[in-house]
Amino acid sequence: MEFDRVVKSRRMVRDYDPDRPVPPGVVDRLLDYAIRAPSAGFSQGWGFLVLDTPGDRDRFWTATSPEVTTSWLDAMRRAPLIIVPHSNRDTYLNRYAEKDKGWADRDENRWPVPYWDIDAGFASLLMLLGVVDAGLGACFFGIPPGRFGAYREAFGVPEEFTPIGALSVGYPAPDRRSPSLKRGRRPVAEVAHRGRWGVSY
Ligand SMILES: Cc1cc2nc3c(=O)[nH]c(=O)nc-3n(C[C@H](O)[C@H](O)[C@H](O)COP(=O)(O)O)c2cc1C
Repeated sequence: MEFDRVVKSRRMVRDYDPDRPVPPGVVDRLLDYAIRAPSAGFSQGWGFLVLDTPGDRDRFWTATSPEVTTSWLDAMRRAPLIIVPHSNRDTYLNRYAEKDKGWADRDENRWPVPYWDIDAGFASLLMLLGVVDAGLGACFFGIPPGRFGAYREAFGVPEEFTPIGALSVGYPAPDRRSPSLKRGRRPVAEVAHRGRWGVSY
């Protein structure tokens, strides 16, 4: 698909055809895109957990969801594939303590923003775009921090890895549009500034 179309047709899909698994070739492609994301110092401190069996997906939803089900959850549970992208702060602190970077004190205050989370986010976006290119749909959603412990325990994820969210992936089924979309897309003229902040582009 043409890049412009991939970008402009991407939207979060929140319901899926449960009878159409994601072809293994597509999963491989998504992961191959993910590892091509840029990363600070080429640290690549990410990790991706792929859940594509009913048992694994069940364990994911049980570990990460509240007890009371919702229509959002019912629909999302139909996704045949979940990919959980993780960030790892320690990998970055270690990488930047190396000679060429020189931050041997590993002081977190040196970091303008948490690059470890940004890089895992870049990888996630590449997967979201890859999903569209493959003719499927996906949704990036958050895992409540109070559930991190149960999630890590369920899948043996080491403490130093933080699940920055999760991607549900599958063939789209008709879904309900997010009420957030009523806000409308902020136009370029409102968010971009030329030469000086406040001067519209
Ligand atoms: C960091 C992040 C967290 C999000 N968390 C959720 C979530 O928990 N549940 C959900 O349904 N959508 C979630 N979304 C999707 C947004 O609601 C969605 O991107 C936004 O409404 C714009 O819609 P679109 O992506 O379909 O254009 C999240 C998106 C991002 C980037």
